[in-house]
Amino acid sequence: MAQNWTPESWKQDRFIAKHLPKYEDAAALAEAERALAGFPPLVFAGEARALKADLAQVAAGQAFLVQGGDCAESFAEFHPDNIRDTFRVILQMAAVLTFASKMPVVKVGRMAGQFAKPRSSDTETQGDVTLPSYFGDNVNGIEFSPESRVNDPQRMLRAYSQAAATLNLLRAFAGGGYANLREVHRWTLEFMDRSPWSSEFKQIADRIGEALDFIEACGVDIEDQQSLKTATFYTSHEALLLPYEQALTRQDSLTGDWYDTSAHMLWIGDRTRFVDSAHVEFLRGVNNPIGVKCGPSLEPDALLQMLDILNPAREPGRITLISRFGAGKVEEGLPPLVRAVEREGHPVVWSCDPMHGNVIKSDSGYKTRPFDRILSEVRGFFAVHRAEGTHAGGIHVEMTGQDVTECTGGAVAITDEGLADRYHTHCDPRLNAAQSLELAFLLAEMLNLELGEARQDAA
Ligand code: TRP
Ligand code: MN
Repeated sequence: MAQNWTPESWKQDRFIAKHLPKYEDAAALAEAERALAGFPPLVFAGEARALKADLAQVAAGQAFLVQGGDCAESFAEFHPDNIRDTFRVILQMAAVLTFASKMPVVKVGRMAGQFAKPRSSDTETQGDVTLPSYFGDNVNGIEFSPESRVNDPQRMLRAYSQAAATLNLLRAFAGGGYANLREVHRWTLEFMDRSPWSSEFKQIADRIGEALDFIEACGVDIEDQQSLKTATFYTSHEALLLPYEQALTRQDSLTGDWYDTSAHMLWIGDRTRFVDSAHVEFLRGVNNPIGVKCGPSLEPDALLQMLDILNPAREPGRITLISRFGAGKVEEGLPPLVRAVEREGHPVVWSCDPMHGNVIKSDSGYKTRPFDRILSEVRGFFAVHRAEGTHAGGIHVEMTGQDVTECTGGAVAITDEGLADRYHTHCDPRLNAAQSLELAFLLAEMLNLELGEARQDAA
């Protein structure tokens, strides 16, 4: 167990707490924290351990990770169809990647808790009015008015209940028959009928269909097979709002270890991942799998120091390093981190976030991400790992199952002018369902290439 750690040790003065909201009414905050601390945990420690074991497989080069969901979940967009459609697209991506890599794919949603956002500025100015920034729905409201921008601790209770209901539906889908591989593949085929996909993608889809036909012809009834009919689906979010995370942190009755039971996996953002950070201190003591976002300003030495703090026992599956450099920068920025981590023998999962380094302002004034740049960062990430001899282990994307127009490009090309049609995000621009699936097919091609090369090497 972590030394000198308690669920509230992050509050000590020697730690720097960035991006935490200030609440005017301390009594109201304490009241909300007390209520949360009495609520049931959202996940069970044993599930977090199962995810850690799955991620250890990824770290060993024997599995792949797909992590995706909204930039920010919101109270306004809380709807069963949104949950269903995002879950569905993540499964479609996972099915394509399982087929291409011939390895298990670990499925993790940015769902059921992704409600807090770090902001570069504490305030936002529109015209001659300046108000506090929007920090995510479990802190304040997105509407630009003085009332809505007040930090309200009661919002954490609403976030908890939305997370609980979301997780309940995800569990029902994952275990109740909705994740049946035949169904998942049927959605993909329907999708491909509607859009102009390349013949390479059609070929991959046909081969998946044939594999399913073949096993069914051999007498395997998918309905009877738990392994084909159900999927394991985990949840994750950025552990930013520490009062919320602390209130949901519990000691596991089986092992005595501490777990943050708000999600299976938590990650530290690029703005809060530094050695004296209160966020690092908090996550050091919980036993969940932890993600660390790695951007261009992260020095290899600082990363190694953080790894020693967060994973002194070098437990595989504990740490996922999520790089977010930007297209054209990953080739230069990532290798020093990979070499340092390899040299020190830290067993990590390397995952690629091709979203956050690729935000631009479109001519029409929207914040967007060109699909080409996203792909280019993923290609660069794979190339680096191929050159370094390490496993390109996963992707981390901001996406939705809805047909939004927030990122430009893709097979069903979204133009700059088209962004205005359905730009709904509460925060950063997300890949829509078609773009997400297209990314999975392109990844499948890259993985096939890698596997082809590995086979040649072995021959
Ligand atoms: N149970 C396996 C898994 O979770 C296979 C599987 C069932 C699957 N349904 C799926 C894989 C949907 C991807 C998508 O990996
Ligand atoms: Mn984001």
